[in-house]
Amino acid sequence: MKYLIGFVATLLLAASSGLLVILSGAFNVAATNPDSQMTEWLLHTTMRRSVAMRSSAIVAPQSFTEAQVRAGFKEFRAMCAGCHGAPGKMRSAAGKGLRPRAPDLALAAPEWTNANLFWIVQNGVKMTGMPSFGPTHDEQTLWNIVAFVRQLPNVTAEQYRALEDESVAAGEHEH
Ligand code: HEC
Repeated sequence: MKYLIGFVATLLLAASSGLLVILSGAFNVAATNPDSQMTEWLLHTTMRRSVAMRSSAIVAPQSFTEAQVRAGFKEFRAMCAGCHGAPGKMRSAAGKGLRPRAPDLALAAPEWTNANLFWIVQNGVKMTGMPSFGPTHDEQTLWNIVAFVRQLPNVTAEQYRALEDESVAAGEHEH
């Protein structure tokens, strides 16, 4: 009984000090304030485990066609490059101010399978600013995006610029 009272008292103390931090405004939500390593670890590990579990049933193509990669480039330029940056391209002002930062996908993509990437783009990541594109794009378009992101580590700044020039020549505007 004594132990139980001690246990409940400890729990109540922990809960009320947590509540105190919340209600007093002590936690700094400023996006200019870097996350502690602990917060970073918590967020990223939760995200990695969640993505791995949830994307395990997705059947992904093993390879993509050149046409898919090109179609994916257009989506990437319009919807991803602002936050994530692109070969030879800086992030937009909004992308620079994001916390957590949207990682350079040329570096991050190799850590994920095609199914993982599809899931992330389709569903987004809560509490980070990574939007879900599933509500607004069909699966075929989402796979095209995955096709391009998969190629990103091999795309040089010159090649990226050439793809942009081709789009401009074809009359496609940045949006
Ligand atoms: C509004 C900003 C924003 C846009 C637009 C955006 N992202 Fe993100 N994205 C983020 C942020 C922030 C994270 C970091 C999430 C984290 O740290 O858990 C992220 C994470 C990711 C990740 C996981 C990377 C990793 O290893 O942590 C992938 C993959 C990704 N985004 C792909 C895309 C693609 C593809 C698009 C375009 C279709 C896109 N994102 C558009 C902000 C954005």
